[in-house]
Amino acid sequence: MTEEDRARARVEDLRRALSEHNYRYYVLDRPAISDAEYDALFRDLVDLEGRFPDLQASDSPTARVGAAPASAFKAVPHEMPMLSLDNVFSDEELTEFVGRVRRLLGDVEPPWIAEPKLDGLSVELVYEDGVFVRGSTRGDGMVGEDVTANLRTVRSVPLRLRPEANPPLRVVVRGEVIIGRGAFRRLNDERTAAGEPAFANPRNAAAGSLRQLDPTVTASRPLDIFLYDVVKAEAAGLTTQHQLLETLPQWGLKVNPLFRPCGSVDDIRAFFRDMVGRRDELDYDADGIVVKLDRFAQRAVAGQRSRSPRWAIAYKFPAQEAITMVRDIAVYVGRTGAVTPVALLEPVSVSGVVVSRASLHNEEELRRKDVRVGDRVVVRRAGEVIPEVVTVILPDEGALRGPAFAMPETCPMCGFGLVRRGEEVVRRCPNESCPSRVQESILHFAGRNAMDIDGLGVRLVEQMVERGLVRDVSDLYALTAEQLLTLELVGDKKAENLLRSIALSRQTTLPRLLFALGIPQVGEVTAALLAAEAGSLERLMCMTPEELQGIPGVGPEVSASVAAYFSLSATAELVRRLKDRGVTWPDVITKPLEGPLSGKTFVFTGALSAMSREQAGAAVVALGGATGSSVTSKTDYVVAGADPGSKLDKARKLGVSVLDEEAFMALVGH
Ligand code: IVH
Repeated sequence: MTEEDRARARVEDLRRALSEHNYRYYVLDRPAISDAEYDALFRDLVDLEGRFPDLQASDSPTARVGAAPASAFKAVPHEMPMLSLDNVFSDEELTEFVGRVRRLLGDVEPPWIAEPKLDGLSVELVYEDGVFVRGSTRGDGMVGEDVTANLRTVRSVPLRLRPEANPPLRVVVRGEVIIGRGAFRRLNDERTAAGEPAFANPRNAAAGSLRQLDPTVTASRPLDIFLYDVVKAEAAGLTTQHQLLETLPQWGLKVNPLFRPCGSVDDIRAFFRDMVGRRDELDYDADGIVVKLDRFAQRAVAGQRSRSPRWAIAYKFPAQEAITMVRDIAVYVGRTGAVTPVALLEPVSVSGVVVSRASLHNEEELRRKDVRVGDRVVVRRAGEVIPEVVTVILPDEGALRGPAFAMPETCPMCGFGLVRRGEEVVRRCPNESCPSRVQESILHFAGRNAMDIDGLGVRLVEQMVERGLVRDVSDLYALTAEQLLTLELVGDKKAENLLRSIALSRQTTLPRLLFALGIPQVGEVTAALLAAEAGSLERLMCMTPEELQGIPGVGPEVSASVAAYFSLSATAELVRRLKDRGVTWPDVITKPLEGPLSGKTFVFTGALSAMSREQAGAAVVALGGATGSSVTSKTDYVVAGADPGSKLDKARKLGVSVLDEEAFMALVGH
């Protein structure tokens, strides 16, 4: 054997190993070696190919990037048109579609398959003799653009199909190129840091990245792909979509595992609702589900129109984005003094809810997005979170815009100079008596999971603060019926009810009180931890940061914040006033950190019907257990409520015990 022969054998081994690891990593999501080990193999191959240029090959894992920048994309005719899909937006329209197809098939109940509809860019990949030879965009459906060199840089596009699975000699597959949400955020962070404009959304980022004349630019972008279609699938030995989705991964092609075979409209609706509930948890944007006939033979019977098949439909999710105009930009001062800019909008309906204000988060974000009064903007409302301004739709070149928004230097409510603490981005109003801060702290104090004072709404609190009836939370307990009756919208009945709920809230618990005080960094769960460890407020007030940090679940930031809060003389005075005005709470019997759940860690996913996640966490803590936010091999139980997310899959993968709500309630004795 010559040296070159030995090198050739080694090169082939390395290529086979690298493709297999690539496949395990990108397609199966089950890597078998570390990144460092992969890199070492990769370097070996680069080195050998450098020393023996005859051994270089275009389908080598080292040959992803290499093509020179092009001056334009070549046109590529598709051998079968790339169709688009018709949309439906309601259960009624879906039912109509299903009925229509059923009639086309001669009144049979066909098997369906439903998949998430990915919001990316559709592409076609051609493999000949197992080798990736051409990739193109959809274009107008008949003719696309040749983006082969760019697609070669996408790690989840195999340059060679897995020969052990015997893929067809020639196969044309189609799918969607996307950028995951996490990767999108990181990409935008990098771009902003480098002074480049951020992408408006992952779809734009994916499209902009794939349609680059210089493939090295594409290679630097975190593109990913999901395949969902094979052209002339029956010639490739496939008869149904579910078989196709099971076969592609064997060939080395990545599919979205969240597909679901459906036997009826009800099954399809259930899948739709399931996906609506989970869409925020997915790592990619999906804008609906695609419902397809599962059997290719039945698809042929149903047929197609010029641009769309009769056998498939897109059932779109309610839109989460809408376009509207910024009427004004206001700043709000929160309980901790943090100043938040808010866009006041021309009211617009977003997924069924009228939105008239949207968060701009903070000054830095506002500057980055450069939102101005009079701008047209995209607003987005996802799940339960506050609507936000996604991006400004810039007017045509030359058109005038308002001036850039300048954050005020002083508090709009009390006139105090705003300050920045250390490295913090946010400006804060330092005035403890700022009416806005007082109002927000009272609303927090009265909240359902805090002191639970029924009937104390924003309008009332606003008036109480404005008229000086309440300067801090303890003043609530000194209010009289006469005072309340001077407020707008308060009659005898309302005053009586309010006084009763204030009186009722006097008997509380230490965890509730600690949460209600609004100590920076202390949420419900931390409040429960602190109460359980300290046992009494008196003890907590004199604990050192070191002692606080000894509490499991309390980190250095929280302990510093708690210690600082209790070292203020204003805190001691407030506590004294609350006590003087009759607020009481029993000491907690210390050592509940030893309990039936000691040493057990719980992670929650999905919604519980009987309690909030915070309450459930507090219940675990009260019995000696701990809570975590992500599932690891150290997790003992995953509690799965309605619409559980990926944490449930993770738990199953790791073999972690899964409790449903009923089992959890039984465990914590509720
Ligand atoms: S099947 C005959 N499945 O949606 C049409 N398309 O609006 C075959 N899309 O052009 C398409 N996710 O780019 C199919 N799971 C999925 C999809 C999907 C996204 C895109 C595709 C298509 C567009 C139609």
